Amino acid sequence: MGEAHFRITTRSVEETQALARRMGTGIHFGCLMALNGDLGSGKTTFMQGLAKGLDVPDTYVVTSPTFTLINEYPGRLPLFHVDLYRISDIEELENIGFFELLSGDGVVAVEWADRVARELPDDRIDIQFEVIDDVRRSLDVRAGGQTTGDLVKRLQPVIERKI
Ligand SMILES: Nc1ncnc2c1ncn2[C@@H]1O[C@H](COP(=O)(O)OP(=O)(O)OP(=O)(O)O)[C@@H](O)[C@H]1O
Ligand SMILES: [Mg+2]
Repeated sequence: MGEAHFRITTRSVEETQALARRMGTGIHFGCLMALNGDLGSGKTTFMQGLAKGLDVPDTYVVTSPTFTLINEYPGRLPLFHVDLYRISDIEELENIGFFELLSGDGVVAVEWADRVARELPDDRIDIQFEVIDDVRRSLDVRAGGQTTGDLVKRLQPVIERKI
């Protein structure tokens, strides 16, 4: 139970989206995903695949909610896409209802989650994105909590088999 970790390299936008889609397909309960990594490392690209895996209709275009902070997409589970790049303080986050989302039944995926690391529950999936070169990205997937740890353990073989 608990702690799970794996690392995977993708070689194109499509591979990152496919990986995220398979992760989304395997998610059957609300959870928190903290997405961190440099500008252009693939966080939003990942979100596009995740939305597909959660059955968000193709008519929704997934782009970074940089100005609104939160976008909500209807899927099998509600998907909340949060981007904290421009967050100025925790109060701003409280005002937009972020902490209420964490106790709801949706999947909450947060770009630049490190900006509020201390405010986040431990039971979450952390994905660290790294730029290797023009076309390759490394994704380090980790979960330490009870439910998310088990989830990541279950997802790992599914994801590694197909890449
Ligand atoms: N293997 C790959 N996976 C994902 N994106 C890739 C890959 N190879 C190249 N790219 C390029 O990297 C960029 C990723 O952009 P994306 O918006 O997903 O990054 P981001 O981490 O969300 O950045 P930001 O912090 O600015 O929101 C795109 O321009 C994409 O074409
Ligand atoms: Mg982004």
